[in-house]
Amino acid sequence: MFDLAIIGGGPGGYVAAGKAGAAGLSVVLFEKKELGGVCLNEGCIPTKTLLYSAKVLDYAKHADRYGVTVPESAIDFGAIFKRKVKVVKKLVGGIKVQMRNAQVEVVSGEAVIAGREADGFRIACGDKTYEARNLLICSGSEAAIPPIPGLREGLGDAVVTNREILSLESQPERLVVIGGGVIGMEFASFFQSIGMQVTVIEMLPKILGPMDLEISNMLQAQYAKKGVDFHLNCKVVAVEGNEVVYEDAEGQTCRAAGDKILVSVGRRAQLQGLGLETIGVELALNPAGRPYGIKVDEKMRTNVPGVYAAGDVTGFSMLAHTASREGEVAVNTILGKEDRMSYQAIPGVVYTNPEVAGVGLTEAEAQQKGLDVEVKKLPMAYSGRFVAENERGDGLCKVILDKATGKVLGVHMLGNPCSEIIYGACIAIEKGLTEEALKTVVFPHPSVSEILKETL
Ligand code: NAI
Repeated sequence: MFDLAIIGGGPGGYVAAGKAGAAGLSVVLFEKKELGGVCLNEGCIPTKTLLYSAKVLDYAKHADRYGVTVPESAIDFGAIFKRKVKVVKKLVGGIKVQMRNAQVEVVSGEAVIAGREADGFRIACGDKTYEARNLLICSGSEAAIPPIPGLREGLGDAVVTNREILSLESQPERLVVIGGGVIGMEFASFFQSIGMQVTVIEMLPKILGPMDLEISNMLQAQYAKKGVDFHLNCKVVAVEGNEVVYEDAEGQTCRAAGDKILVSVGRRAQLQGLGLETIGVELALNPAGRPYGIKVDEKMRTNVPGVYAAGDVTGFSMLAHTASREGEVAVNTILGKEDRMSYQAIPGVVYTNPEVAGVGLTEAEAQQKGLDVEVKKLPMAYSGRFVAENERGDGLCKVILDKATGKVLGVHMLGNPCSEIIYGACIAIEKGLTEEALKTVVFPHPSVSEILKETL
């Protein structure tokens, strides 16, 4: 009998397993594919590896802006993708070592909840059955495929999701991206940088979903200038071979052709085949009554005592860093330590070039909530380090302050390397710092991070 069985070895599952093992619990972790989950194998890490190659190419192409002559710059598509495989392999190996050090028993295979015991749960995997006092479900999510003609029957040769596009063997010429959210824009960024013709078709009037409107528009303008063809307010209604059929804002039917068509219209919690019904785990329902994830409370407990869920399978805040924190909360709850999940300061980062990062409320969200806020803004060019390192670069920092309390409610940035700066804003928001308190903090000079203090 294990103290804890974890289904799914992504950033929710493996972080929880490491913590629980280190705290002295006996842990079994089931993973049907590779440790690291979607994030490490088909998401965050491989895309960031590709995007870094694209960034190096961008630097080489524009080296003259910095007084450096690079006579010729070109990519080796095969080498870029080979490096991605190497990076992923190294990190998967690292997790294996972590699991070994935490004395976690890792089982390769698909786990199914087989039933309840007097003092725990039965989990079947392959031809073996395991027993555990507690169960943590971290089965993640999969790319959502819209039920439109040409897609609902399955992916065709040209149609790919984030998974297949990471295994391309040769460089296509034209890419059509369905959905200008985070995944869509990161791939649009990579493929545009390496010379592909990229078209983005987005249903909403803006890219990057709920991220700050002004910043999303600035990013879009920068990519449009680089040559990405954006079609906003356009709903994809069918895919025919290598053509995407969409309706534009006027209701006209239009077409866009690509050698590859990336479907990036969101992700869905992985709820099937887990045996949740065997022990009566309750699902969360959307307003239409459809299940979108496992229902949890702020301690990551499900309705079944002893059963917890963390990560994308809960159906909201589908981010690796949310999953890891949720996994920690679940383990602390099992250990009897006081802990609860807070979603007020979960950062969102888009690794385009330039990067976008945001945390807390946007201006629009603050207005929707009826809050009386002050919005302070400053171009990134107020940071000396930014100017030194971003020739012709354009960026922005926005801070949303609560007028009544002076507390920082949101911070939104465009400009490199805001992905590395945003955590400062996360601390301010999570810990309820006021503008005055943040102003007393000494930031390193010269650093782009100073922009946060300058904006106040
Ligand atoms: P998303 O929800 O960010 O964006 C999907 C977009 O597709 C939306 O803007 C939506 O309006 C649009 N769309 C939906 N149906 C459409 C249609 N028929 N025609 C045209 N447009 C349509 O989803 P995405 O980009 O697939 O990402 C999935 C999840 O993965 C998100 O939760 C995201 O936060 C996470 N993720 C995070 C990353 C990061 O933190 N850097 C990187 C990649 C993914």
